[in-house]
Amino acid sequence: MEVTHKKIAIYPGTFDPITNGHIDILKRSLKLFDEVILLLAVNPQKVATFSAKERMAMLNDVAKQLDSSRVRVDASTGLTVEYAKSHHAIAIVRGLRAVPDFNYEHEIFAGNQFIDPSIEMVFFMANHQHDFISSSMIKQLAKQGVDVSTLVPPLVLTYLEKVKTTSNK
Ligand code: COA
Repeated sequence: MEVTHKKIAIYPGTFDPITNGHIDILKRSLKLFDEVILLLAVNPQKVATFSAKERMAMLNDVAKQLDSSRVRVDASTGLTVEYAKSHHAIAIVRGLRAVPDFNYEHEIFAGNQFIDPSIEMVFFMANHQHDFISSSMIKQLAKQGVDVSTLVPPLVLTYLEKVKTTSNK
């Protein structure tokens, strides 16, 4: 009898916070993979605005709104490739917005391949509506009172409100 294995992908990021741009990539990756793990990973070059606990709460809410049987949420402080291997994933998903992303992702790709070439990376082009969004830009706009409700899910909006209130004190 033929044994079919679930095709699992990892979608790693700092997600500080998760945006509709990330969610678009997540939804599209669910067309190719049976299960996608949204992985809160560490970029040592970044200091996060939201705590890991807060970012996990936002990711869990997104998973709940989508398809929680096919979207898992987890966190890792180690190498994403090692995480992928130990969770039987076949690929790491990333989004590409513009040329600077290509250069950055090319570097990550090379690093990941150096660690273990058996884990593929799959890149989705950000769609036009989302290709200008970044987590930093959203935080900056929200802080200045710009309505970002079309750029992030509702729970993220409430977290952004809290940051705005604290920084105005
Ligand atoms: N929509 C919206 N925003 C997007 C986006 C999209 N489709 N694609 C990228 N971005 C933005 C993010 O909002 C983020 O913005 P910010 O810089 O203002 O915060 C930025 O692009 C990139 O962030 P993210 O996608 O979260 O990646 P990252 O660079 O913060 O993290 C890791 C990269 C965590 C995946 C990578 O460092 C990693 O795997 N680390 C674990 C350790 C490891 O394996 N290292 C070896 C690497 S070779």
